[in-house]
Amino acid sequence: MNLESILFTQGFGSRRQCRALITEGRVEIDGTVSGDPNAEVTTDALTFCVDGAPWPYRERAYVLLNKPAGYECSREPQHHLSVFGLLPSQFAARGVQCVGRLDQDTTGLLLLSDDGQFVHALTAPRRKVPKTYVATTRHPLDDTQLAALRDGVLLHGEAQPVAAVDARARDTNVLELTVLEGKYHQVKRMVAAAGNRVEALHRERIGGLVLPAALVEGQWQWLDAADLAALQAR
Ligand code: URA
Repeated sequence: MNLESILFTQGFGSRRQCRALITEGRVEIDGTVSGDPNAEVTTDALTFCVDGAPWPYRERAYVLLNKPAGYECSREPQHHLSVFGLLPSQFAARGVQCVGRLDQDTTGLLLLSDDGQFVHALTAPRRKVPKTYVATTRHPLDDTQLAALRDGVLLHGEAQPVAAVDARARDTNVLELTVLEGKYHQVKRMVAAAGNRVEALHRERIGGLVLPAALVEGQWQWLDAADLAALQAR
């Protein structure tokens, strides 16, 4: 692929902007300035630098963010900051989107990608991908609430009850809940329907992929092949 196309596909701006970056000598490969936009470059295991900052070539972006509270999963947020502000601008430029949304006050595991099939595979209701949340509840949990969550609760506006595949108390006021759907405010609505209230919500796992303990809130990382495989696990 020529160098201009590489920068363009990776989200470094319009073709004109990418050409300018190259001809201004701001792009390096293997420590050498590459000033020719038409230079053919192999993309296998390619990492190039723009203004000294390394960027790995990835045909598709698969990214994990440890979402802090106070951020909306939208490029045009209504009332809070955007999660895209926590990521390099190249991601938004190449059409990366959130793989399902978390509420602004929900923290934890958020995936983003520009691979439409991947987004669909993880969010389509019939794919039934398990998502595990940890909710701090206002009132102590009891067996009746946990049984209701497992047996199914009727949410306002829904014809069928929604059941958690697992609901257990980690502590008096700490609920671990695994659900297959991704309905609007689902966990908060389920907990309310079971007679309690969510005070704080954190997503810990999607499929078999667990939020890495070492990833600080607000930080992101690329997903590797093992992470992508773990997402398929049930
Ligand atoms: N359920 C909710 O209520 N909120 C979220 O952000 C995710 C699941």
